[in-house]
Amino acid sequence: MIGVGWVGLCTAACFAELGHEVYARDILADKVESLTRGEVPMHEPGLPELVERNAGRLTFTTDMGEVLERAELLFCCVDTPPTYSGDADLSRVEAVLGALGDSTHHAIVMKSTVPVGTGISIGRRREGLGYVANPEFLKEGTAVEDFMNPDRVVVGANDGSGAFADRVAALYEPLGAPIVRTDVASAEMIKLASNAFLATKISFINEIANVSEELGADVKEVARGMGLDERIGGKFLQAGIGYGGSCFPKDVSALKQLAGNSGYHFQLLTAVIEVNELQKRRTIGKLQKHLGPLVNREVALLGVAFKPDTDDVREAASLVLAARLQGEGANVRVYDPVAATNASEMLGGARICGSALEALDGAHAAVLVTEWPEFAELDWAGEVGARMATPVVVDGRNFLDRDALRAAGFAYEGIGR
Ligand code: UGA
Repeated sequence: MIGVGWVGLCTAACFAELGHEVYARDILADKVESLTRGEVPMHEPGLPELVERNAGRLTFTTDMGEVLERAELLFCCVDTPPTYSGDADLSRVEAVLGALGDSTHHAIVMKSTVPVGTGISIGRRREGLGYVANPEFLKEGTAVEDFMNPDRVVVGANDGSGAFADRVAALYEPLGAPIVRTDVASAEMIKLASNAFLATKISFINEIANVSEELGADVKEVARGMGLDERIGGKFLQAGIGYGGSCFPKDVSALKQLAGNSGYHFQLLTAVIEVNELQKRRTIGKLQKHLGPLVNREVALLGVAFKPDTDDVREAASLVLAARLQGEGANVRVYDPVAATNASEMLGGARICGSALEALDGAHAAVLVTEWPEFAELDWAGEVGARMATPVVVDGRNFLDRDALRAAGFAYEGIGR
C-alpha cells in the first residue's frame, strides 16, 4: 500500500486478515512509527483490532526501496483532493509514480479516485509499468465490513496489464463477490458514476422532503414506500441536512468538472450540488420560525462528524451550520463523541462541549446534525427538557422519536415530515 491514510490502512489490514503479507508505506515518519506501535490514528470500528491481530503480516515503513523489493502490486492509496476548479489534484499520485523510478516489473493498482482518462495517460507516459484500476467502494464507519462483503469488485486493465489484473482479481476471490473485469477508463467511470448516483439519490429525496413539508406528506413514509420497489431500492433514501464527507462532494464536482472539460454540461449534477448546499442552510429558517431572530440565541449542535462512526469532519454540514448560525448572531455550542476536537479550528467561535447535556444546558434550540445513537438515548422528556431554555429541536436526520418529543412539549422540526 502506498499511502497509509484511511483507504490504505483499511485495505492493508483487510488484505493482511486474508492472509497476505502487506507492506504499507507512507512519507510521514511519525505516522509509520505510531502504526508500528499498533496505534491507529482514526476512528474506524474494527480496524484497531484487525491491525493488532495481523501485526505479524503488516509492515509499516517510509522506505519505498523496501516496498519495491518485496512487493509486485503497488496499491496507490494517496489523496486526490479537489483543486479550486473542482478538478482532482493528482500531485500525490504523480509523486508516487516519481518514487517508482523506471520500474517495469511492478504494477500500480489505482485505488485513489482519479479522473476518467488518468490510467490511459499514465500508461502512455510509463510504458512497461503495469496499470490496474481498482476503485474502492468502502464507506467510512463500516469499511472493514464493506471490504469483507463487497457488492462487487471492479478491476480495470488495458492491453499489456492483463496478467497483473488477474493477480489483483485473485486477491479478492475469497470474498465471493462478482468481479467486474473491464477496461481502465470504464473502471474509473464506475467509481465516479456510483458516487454521483448515490449523491443524486440523496438530493432527490431531500427535494421530495422539502416539497412534502409544503404538501403535508411525510418523507419517511414516502421513502419507505418508494424503496420497496426493487428498481429504486431503499438505501440512500434518507432525507436529511445534506450529504458531506470527503467523497460525495469531491467526486460529484470532479465528474461535473470532467464533463465540462470535455465540452459537456452535466446539468443534473449541477442541480445535485445546489440542492445539497441549500439543504444545509434550510435549518436556519426552521430555527427562526420558532425563535425569531437568532441574535444572542444559544444553539446546540449535536454531532460534528459528517456521519456517525467516524471522526471525519470534511465537508460536514455542521461546519456550514455553525458558520451560518454565527453569521445570524447566535452563540453556538457543539458536542460530538469523537469528532469535535478535529473540527475546533473550523467551527469559528463555537464552544466545544464535553457532553450532549452540557451543550443542551440553557440552549434555546438543539439541532441534531449527526445521528450518533447516544442522541436518541438522551432523556429528552425529562432532563433535557428541564435543562433547555426553550424546548426547540430541529432533527436534521429524522432520527429522534418525533411523537415522544412533541408529547413532551417540544417544538419538533424534522426534514420533510
Ligand atoms: C461514500 C460511498 O458510499 C462509498 O461507497 C465510497 O467508497 C466512498 O464514498 C468513497 O468514495 O471513498 P462515505 O463518504 O464514507 O462513502 O459515506 P456514506 O455512507 O456514503 O455517506 C455520505 C454522506 O451522505 C453522509 O453525509 C451521509 O449522512 C449522507 N447520506 C447517506 C444521506 O444524507 N442520506 C442517505 O440516505 C445516505
